[in-house]
Amino acid sequence: MATISQRSNQLGTENAFVVLAEVGELQRKGNDILSFCIGMPDFPTPQNIQNAGVNAIQSGKHGYTPSAGIPELRQAASEYLNKSRGLEYDPDDVVVAAGAKPFIMYSILATTDYGEGHEVIYPNPGFPIYESQIKVHGAVPVPLHLRESRGFNFDPAELESKINDKTRLLILNSPQNPTGGIVPRRELEIIAEILERHPNVWVFSDEIYSQLCFEESFSSIASFPSMTDRTIVVDGCSKTWAMTGWRLGFAASKALAPAFTKWVTNTESCASHITQWAGVEALTGNQSGAQLMRAKFLERRDLIVGLLNEVPGVTCLNPGGAFYVWPNVTEACQMIGAKDSEEFRKRLLLEAGVAVLADIHFGRRVPDDGQHVRFSYAASNEDIVEGINRLSKFILKNTR
Ligand SMILES: Cc1ncc(COP(=O)(O)O)c(C=O)c1O
Repeated sequence: MATISQRSNQLGTENAFVVLAEVGELQRKGNDILSFCIGMPDFPTPQNIQNAGVNAIQSGKHGYTPSAGIPELRQAASEYLNKSRGLEYDPDDVVVAAGAKPFIMYSILATTDYGEGHEVIYPNPGFPIYESQIKVHGAVPVPLHLRESRGFNFDPAELESKINDKTRLLILNSPQNPTGGIVPRRELEIIAEILERHPNVWVFSDEIYSQLCFEESFSSIASFPSMTDRTIVVDGCSKTWAMTGWRLGFAASKALAPAFTKWVTNTESCASHITQWAGVEALTGNQSGAQLMRAKFLERRDLIVGLLNEVPGVTCLNPGGAFYVWPNVTEACQMIGAKDSEEFRKRLLLEAGVAVLADIHFGRRVPDDGQHVRFSYAASNEDIVEGINRLSKFILKNTR
């Protein structure tokens, strides 16, 4: 048989999808599983956006669009970014794609060359696609540890120690997946000061959870004048407007927009024409649906953090955003005799019917930072109460 490329064999994946398949299999066999695995709003897309999609289909928006996106959406996205971040993008600086995710690849491709030893610094734990894409495009992944003691931020001195002549790109993500941590403005300022000393480093700022920032108003590193020109700001419709399956994201960078446009032409051709019109409505239409979801997420965050901190052997920091919590289960693992968070996760799933992800699904475990699991609280209040109740009983029942 013809061989499969090493590159394909090396591709990483999102383990959320692997665990999801495991959960689905257990559910099909009749097991009662409460899942806190998936990073997807559990709400329908707001009605006005659905209507815009239907309208686009019925009014013949069926053909290809320019690769960078329809002018109306580029205009709407630039205005949204400018208003929410205090920036000054032109519509031409914005490129649209099928989600925020493709821009991870386009940005690595636009800033590094294959096999040249170009380094990309990325958050660990972090969205697993960062490391996978850095490797597969022939760059060198350099993890930057997020530490619980720093509120799930990295030590700026550690960042500076990792920058060298080969560093081409720094990936930032705030609010963050999987910890829910945010990089406060005062920390962004320190990062910007460091980067001023290293003018060859681009910044990929993954701001897909920007509208789910609960602790202080959201700040983008691009809003620091010295950073604007070399930051790629990435956001999209998946999380804010519950549009994960519609596939729509956008990136802004005056310098790189032409390169991104060519990458889109070479891969997707364009984002779905229908979805782009729905995106115009998401960005410019009535925001009550998005506001309601945000309020619900905040209520659930407070609920789940409060409940988790009552569970024996578990402590949980109050995360500043997104819809994830990252409780420390080091003591709980010891109490039930689980060797690590992955064994804990598996037993919790099989013995208590609660599905979560473990820290190893988001990169290598941070040295000396203990064991963690991720709960996505894109779940109802009832499921959250029942899930944490099961967790508590599971630990008490198995305590040695
Ligand atoms: C940090 C982060 N970036 C990007 C994405 C991808 O978003 P999209 O659905 O817009 O491709 C996700 C989705 O889970 C995410 O958590």
